[in-house]
Amino acid sequence: MRPIIIAANWKMNTTPADAGALAAAITAATNEPEVVRVICPPYVSLAAVRDTLRGTDVGVGAQNVHAERAGAYTGEIAAPMLSGLATWAIIGHSERRRDQGEADPLIGRKLRQCLDHGLRPILCVGEQLEDREAGRAESVVRDQLRGVLEAAGLTAAEGASELVIAYEPVWAIGTGRTARGADAAAMSDAIRGALRENGWSAAAAEGCPVLYGGSVTAAAIAEFLAEPGIDGALVGGASLKVDEMAGIVARAAMTARARREAGGAAH
Ligand code: PGA
Repeated sequence: MRPIIIAANWKMNTTPADAGALAAAITAATNEPEVVRVICPPYVSLAAVRDTLRGTDVGVGAQNVHAERAGAYTGEIAAPMLSGLATWAIIGHSERRRDQGEADPLIGRKLRQCLDHGLRPILCVGEQLEDREAGRAESVVRDQLRGVLEAAGLTAAEGASELVIAYEPVWAIGTGRTARGADAAAMSDAIRGALRENGWSAAAAEGCPVLYGGSVTAAAIAEFLAEPGIDGALVGGASLKVDEMAGIVARAAMTARARREAGGAAH
């Protein structure tokens, strides 16, 4: 059975002086053992958050990694440098696709770096508004996945236990406007279909967690977790608010319990 994952993407917010306290408050307010929790602060706050979370089961993630393992790349951070600081990494976020011009072949090399250096990747994919309005949202996301997986040389056997995919429609990020649960569910089917098309076994594709991201709040999360194909959320703005995170993780815990009980009944 797939885990339920709630990952907090703090983006370019918090400082090393206040990140630890926020991480501690979120951790205390979201103490649900059935939910996998991850906090992704800015690089400079990774150490503070790691220190605060030591002894808890909350994971620490980076918001990006470089596509090379070392070299003359001023200002960049390579995956091996994150050893001891983070065990997860977000890659392919739409804000980086937009602002840094990141495209699928580069993101695939970042995915390769994550897998080679012990970082669990949260790979973001998602369509623009005009893609959805033109009826090509699913083909855009399938193309993104193919480009990334090809560049990463990712085989099913390797990826099955590691890769997490976050479906984040670009028009829903930071806008207060969410996708519909049914559309996110259809996209989770398309994503797992794309994994099979790229050589994954049906079981491996079925085992890959798919998160929804884009204006998730405590009030909005239920619609997504009601969809069996959606396994949690990547949360931006609301992840800086302790009360919102408490509500989101509480809902995720209800879902995890319900799915466990339904899974148990089926066996
Ligand atoms: P948002 O961001 O929740 O603020 O829309 C989500 C994300 O960018 O991961």
